[in-house]
Amino acid sequence: MDKLVVAGGISLRGRVAISGAKNASLAILCAAVMAGELVTLENVPDIRDVQVMVDILRSLGAQIHRTTPSGSLRILMTEPPAQMPPYHLAKQLRASNLLLGPLVARFGRAEIPLPGGCNIGTRPMDLHFKGLTALGAQLSLERGTVVARAAGLEGNRVYLDFPSVGATENIMMAACLAQGQTVIENAAREPEVVDLANFLNCLGARVRGAGTDVIKIEGVDSLGGCLRYAVIPDRIEAGTFMVAAAATRGEVILENVIPRHLEPLIAKLREAGVEIEEEEDRIRVRASGPLSPIDIKTMPYPGFPTDMQSQMMALLSTIPGTSVIVENIFENRFKVVDELKRMGARIKVEGRLAVVEGVERLQGACVRATDLRAGAALVVAGLMAEGETRIGNVVYIDRGYFNLEQKLKMLGARIWRTSSEADAPAQNGTARKSAMV
Ligand code: UD1
Repeated sequence: MDKLVVAGGISLRGRVAISGAKNASLAILCAAVMAGELVTLENVPDIRDVQVMVDILRSLGAQIHRTTPSGSLRILMTEPPAQMPPYHLAKQLRASNLLLGPLVARFGRAEIPLPGGCNIGTRPMDLHFKGLTALGAQLSLERGTVVARAAGLEGNRVYLDFPSVGATENIMMAACLAQGQTVIENAAREPEVVDLANFLNCLGARVRGAGTDVIKIEGVDSLGGCLRYAVIPDRIEAGTFMVAAAATRGEVILENVIPRHLEPLIAKLREAGVEIEEEEDRIRVRASGPLSPIDIKTMPYPGFPTDMQSQMMALLSTIPGTSVIVENIFENRFKVVDELKRMGARIKVEGRLAVVEGVERLQGACVRATDLRAGAALVVAGLMAEGETRIGNVVYIDRGYFNLEQKLKMLGARIWRTSSEADAPAQNGTARKSAMV
């Protein structure tokens, strides 16, 4: 099992280009099974979650060709799926549930083994089911597999009790091929939902209002192809680099970002004393003076993203004073606390509340990623810690970050991957035994 090793204490400096958004890519890949003609996607990151999704789509019979690792994917699915996604693939990816809407809408049937993904809470699917049922699909759970059947969907009004990203996306996709109008009320407003809606419209769908809490979809008979659709930049990857820059008291310019998508994070980092300059598609982050503790509450967009909570916790763990974090989205998102404590952090958890008492510095230690963003938080912690941090369960980090080590190394970090306990970096910055990446 690979480990990431981080030799801490170096301020990050330089420029980093942000890759395409994981969550937008996954939803758009699912939507691509509704396209009747060729789809070309750009800026799709070659990360583990995308690779698994590509394998799932291939198992359904889609032809998929990747032209460059950082970018272009061509997808064509003309025939009904010969088989449904196998369990060993679907269980690896929570977002496989986003195939329910597209498959039942286009082919009248979908069978998705109950999905897996990061262990960050119970993650029910009742809102997905409520919406798809309202459109006329019959849903049942048969031996661990969600089965959806429909002899044609019909538009309807759907009120979401919570603005779930996945439920909004699933219902929005299915509604594109339903007869008549669908209105999703209390819809999620995340940028990834807007990106998906833009892609669907590129295929010939009629979606309006994405980005607000009321999305209206006029169903069409079929969807076409799309010659080129570029996925938005990953705001969580960008946010992780911003927090890492602040945590190491460095100065980093992020390129290929949409600053508007990062406003909640930018606001909180500024409150803590981090200097941030925004340009059209670039952000400069600098932390030179002392930083102050802040309080954070995770909320649906445009609130503070739950996917940035763990990385912020790592940063706050060395800011003198008391910071309070309230996690309102996923109940298991505090698993990283025990790992940060191994590094000397002082954090108390009470239900959905974490109280962080800033310590002077963290100490390198052997830790374990408990989910994707926890892994990112441990990298941030390792970058600012004294000594070496060895992070296990790297597979979680690989799910969502494209070339994380290379990008950090370009910013001056000493980070490498190893499969051996004995490996260590040589003085000149190259690794003994293990291949530096
Ligand atoms: C997506 C993102 C994930 C992010 C999350 C919240 C993808 C692939 N993943 O996950 O990175 O952390 O949004 O921004 O895009 N809920 C229900 N019933 C449902 C569905 C959800 O109660 O049917 C609850 C969940 O338990 C959770 C909350 O709604 O408490 C938010 O979940 P949701 O927005 O659906 O997250 P995902 O789409 O799973």
